[in-house]
Amino acid sequence: MYNKDGVILKVMDGLIEKINKPIVFIGMMGCGKSSVGKAFSTRFGLPFYDSDDEVVDVAGRSISDIFETDGEPAFRELEKDTIDKLLNHGACIISVGGGAVTTPAALASIKAQGVSVWLNVDVDALLNRLSGDTSRPLLQATNPSNILNSLLEQRTPLYEQADLCVDVDGRNVDDLVMHIAEELKRIV
Ligand code: S3P
Repeated sequence: MYNKDGVILKVMDGLIEKINKPIVFIGMMGCGKSSVGKAFSTRFGLPFYDSDDEVVDVAGRSISDIFETDGEPAFRELEKDTIDKLLNHGACIISVGGGAVTTPAALASIKAQGVSVWLNVDVDALLNRLSGDTSRPLLQATNPSNILNSLLEQRTPLYEQADLCVDVDGRNVDDLVMHIAEELKRIV
């Protein structure tokens, strides 16, 4: 682990060996799970997986198509199976779709087999990040702000079950990687 000047921080030595299981990033769409997860995986030399990408690969269709043709429950089933497979990859980084935690079996597997990190972002920041997005079927409505507010309200008690809850606001990706590593070191 390096700080901004490239100095190795000895305090991070052995962190991944100690955790020795998947680190799973959870949180609302647009919260930065994939970018922070990828940066974290690069810093620690771990493989990175994104459950949405895996679902798309396995199904051979886009998430929008799966939602439209088969419905959200079918997507959640595929998502749960995908997460179960990814959790068997040993030490790695996994970013899961924002709604994965709403499937009780998926949340239970994440809690049992991984170390979970919730990236908490407020709705205004999410709206900024997601403005113009056409890839998230749940946001294709006249009032994405209402949708995000209501999803965040429903999901907060689920996200709060993470091993680590991190406020993203005011931190860039590098700061987040460092902060998460330090916090993980504290709790594992
Ligand atoms: C969803 C989030 C998306 C994707 C799908 C549903 C959700 O993933 O799984 O559109 O219910 O919040 P990201 O959180 O990676 O955008």
